[in-house]
Amino acid sequence: MKTRITLCLIAAVAAACALQSENGEEAAAEEQQSEMVMAEVSELAALMKEIHADAKNWRTALLEGETVSADPEIYSRLTESEPTNKNVEGPVFEGLSQHYQSKLSAFLAASDIDLAKKEYNNLVTACVQCHQNYCHGPIPTIEKLYLPIAETRDRK
Ligand code: HEC
Repeated sequence: MKTRITLCLIAAVAAACALQSENGEEAAAEEQQSEMVMAEVSELAALMKEIHADAKNWRTALLEGETVSADPEIYSRLTESEPTNKNVEGPVFEGLSQHYQSKLSAFLAASDIDLAKKEYNNLVTACVQCHQNYCHGPIPTIEKLYLPIAETRDRK
């Protein structure tokens, strides 16, 4: 019984995170116009779409043997962007944001392609670690970002 309740809670949290725009949409209006859906996307969700797209591009470049360069600053954007859920803040979120920042810095500093690939997978793990705490829904999508070099995964 206890397990079932826990599972339900986890499912509810995951659904709330994944279905946020639909909920916002319902509250906002009867009609479903795409502009209104856009308006419901939080700053943090928009940032997430951006870093997800970046990671996909980096993955493609690395597979082609190219290292990448990008803006190394992410911590303040993670911690200052308005989230959908007001509980997404505080020392744990800040710690996970700092951890992601350190993995991004290490990835961008990698001097050769083999190291860059290893650091890239560590970066993806940092995405997953924050999502295990705050937003379970996208984890299967995020895990597709791993490069197929299993031995370099930084599993905790
Ligand atoms: C420090 C925590 C943290 C890190 C690091 C993080 N995320 Fe997120 N992510 C979140 C939270 C919280 C949300 C929910 C955002 C909201 O709705 O306001 C989210 C939402 C998302 C979403 C759903 C966006 C949408 O369409 O609503 C995707 C996809 C995503 N993250 C991918 C990633 C990827 C890929 C990475 C790594 C490159 C990453 N995240 C790193 C916390 C994090």
